Amino acid sequence: MTHVNTTDFIRALINARHPDSAPLVPEKIRTATVMPSSYGYPIQFSLVLGSYGVYLKLMIDDFNTLVIRGARLILRSARLDDVMELFRLVSESREELAKWLPWIEFVRSVEDERHIVEQWIYEMQLRSAIHLCVTRDWKIVGLVGTHQIDWINQRTSVGYWMGTNYVGQHYTTESTAVLLNFLFENLRLHRVFIQAATENEPSNRVIKRLGFRWEGLLRENERIKDRFFDHNIYGMTQNDFAGLKESHSVYLRR
Ligand SMILES: CC(C)(COP(=O)(O)OP(=O)(O)OC[C@H]1O[C@@H](n2cnc3c(N)ncnc32)[C@H](O)[C@@H]1OP(=O)(O)O)[C@@H](O)C(=O)NCCC(=O)NCCS
Repeated sequence: MTHVNTTDFIRALINARHPDSAPLVPEKIRTATVMPSSYGYPIQFSLVLGSYGVYLKLMIDDFNTLVIRGARLILRSARLDDVMELFRLVSESREELAKWLPWIEFVRSVEDERHIVEQWIYEMQLRSAIHLCVTRDWKIVGLVGTHQIDWINQRTSVGYWMGTNYVGQHYTTESTAVLLNFLFENLRLHRVFIQAATENEPSNRVIKRLGFRWEGLLRENERIKDRFFDHNIYGMTQNDFAGLKESHSVYLRR
C-alpha cells in the first residue's frame, strides 16, 4: 500500500495550481508528481477543470503520452509511428552524429530503429527513462531524453542529438531547458547530470549555457571508433535549478 507524505501532497496541489507548471495536453489539466515517502515510485495528481468544476484525479501514468511545450518547440514521447522519420533523420545526419555517438554504428536499418523505439516505449511504460522527439512545426528535428531514472536517489542524466540540418538554432539548449524544467518541477528530481566528450565543443557550450556546474573529468571514458575520449561531467541540483529559472524562462512556453 502506497503512503504519501502530507507535505508532498500539499506541495503537489500548490504546483498543480501554479500557472508556470509545464502544461501537459489537454491544456486544462495541471499535473504535479510527488515521490511517496515510503515507496520509490512517483504518483501524479492532476487538477482537472471539468464541467463539474475543479476536481483532483490520481494517476499512475507512464511516460508514453508526454507532450511538453517550449517557446518554439514541442517535445513529445517517441512512438512507433516515428520510426521511419527518425531513421531518415539519423541517416541524413549520420556523419555528424557518428563523431560523438557510438551507438549510431548499430542503427543501419529501419528494423534497427524500430527495436530502439520499442525499447524506449517499454522503458517509458516502466517510467524508468524518458525519450522525447523534439518537433518544430510537427517535424522531428532531434531527440532529447534521460537515461535510467534513479527514483530512490531522485536523480538521472540527460542526453540529446539534433539532425544536422537543424543544428545552430539553439534547439538543443531550448529542448534541454524544457526537459530540465519537467524533471525538476514536475517529477521533483533532486539532481540531473550530463557528460560530454571534452572535444565536443557544441555540446559543452549547450551544457554551460544551461548553467550546469563542472564536476570533474572522466578519463578515457568512451570509445568512438578506435579512440578513447575523456568526458567532462557536469551536474545541476534542484536548488541550482531554482536559481536559474529566470535565465531559463526564455526557453519555456509563456
Ligand atoms: C551537440 C548538439 C546536440 C548541439 O546542437 P545545437 O542545436 O546546434 O545546439 P545549440 O544551437 O543549442 O548550441 C550550440 C552551441 O555550440 C556552438 N557551436 C556550434 N558549432 C560549434 C563548433 N563547431 N565549435 C564550437 N562551438 C560550436 C554554437 O554557437 C552554440 O553556442 P552558444 O550557445 O554560445 O551560441 C549537436 O551538435 C549534435 O547533435 N551533435 C552530434 C551529437 C552529439 O554530440 N550529442 C551530444 C553528446 S554529449
